[in-house]
Amino acid sequence: MSRLSSPDAAEPPGLPDQASSPLVMLRDVHKTYHMGQSVVHALAGIDLQIARGELLSITGPSGSGKTTLMGIIGCLDKPTSGYYEFASQAVHTMSDRQLAIIRNRSIGFVFQTFNLLGRTTAEENVSVPMFYARKTRVHGQALKALEQVGLADRAHHRPGELSGGERQRVALARAIVNEPILLLADEPTGNLDTKTGAQIMTIVHKLHQQGATVVLVTHEHDIAVQAQRMVQMSDGKIINDGPVDPDQHAKAVARSQALARQADN
Ligand SMILES: Nc1ncnc2c1ncn2[C@@H]1O[C@H](COP(=O)(O)OP(=O)(O)O)[C@@H](O)[C@H]1O
Ligand SMILES: [Mg+2]
Repeated sequence: MSRLSSPDAAEPPGLPDQASSPLVMLRDVHKTYHMGQSVVHALAGIDLQIARGELLSITGPSGSGKTTLMGIIGCLDKPTSGYYEFASQAVHTMSDRQLAIIRNRSIGFVFQTFNLLGRTTAEENVSVPMFYARKTRVHGQALKALEQVGLADRAHHRPGELSGGERQRVALARAIVNEPILLLADEPTGNLDTKTGAQIMTIVHKLHQQGATVVLVTHEHDIAVQAQRMVQMSDGKIINDGPVDPDQHAKAVARSQALARQADN
């Protein structure tokens, strides 16, 4: 199956090539936190399938479980109970070490707060996931990823010398540098103004068109409908899951791209 920016690249060994099976399959997934005497049901029975190549948004009020769900989909965290299959592998039973391997090879993350290392350059920040994945030839790959987000000329800048939008683009470059099959973005535009957020969405659309499967958590309706499919959460459950109206989708994407062009000028 296609991987980011290199559609012809082979799957890494160990991942069965089952292009027709869903990339993500969750069955009755629960996540429970114990806080002193009280129990928080952050996820209360999630059933979700994501096909390869989808662009999907997740919306819902604060505290509804979106970040918890992203953590489980991204193999950062394990369900308390339930079944999770990623790329045809049962991951809910895997050890932390096995999860880390899947994460490093196959999944890229973008967070609302960028989470860049402050004292290192854009290029070094982008290189971090390659060290975890024990890759060599990191220089060329990092620059290529920075080029994809339009920041090749900022490679030697530190985060403090970059604008918010540029920092998030560095974070996007870091997320895609290992050519993941899945890109997870948790409120990636939450700390940005509308125009800068639109620039980020333009890159998200580009990566999606290049073959990435993208899951995008957002509060903003105008961003959520830029996905082809929208999942709504409430109280740890999915209360709605369906395609976005194509007309509404097209208009939102066009509006966003016009805004992004304004920001470019
Ligand atoms: N590490 C944690 N420990 C305890 N409670 C948590 C933890 N993470 C999340 N929660 C709780 O789980 C619920 C869902 O949180 P979260 O997934 O962050 O929601 P959202 O991203 O939709 O705002 C909230 O009630 C939150 O307080
Ligand atoms: Mg959250």
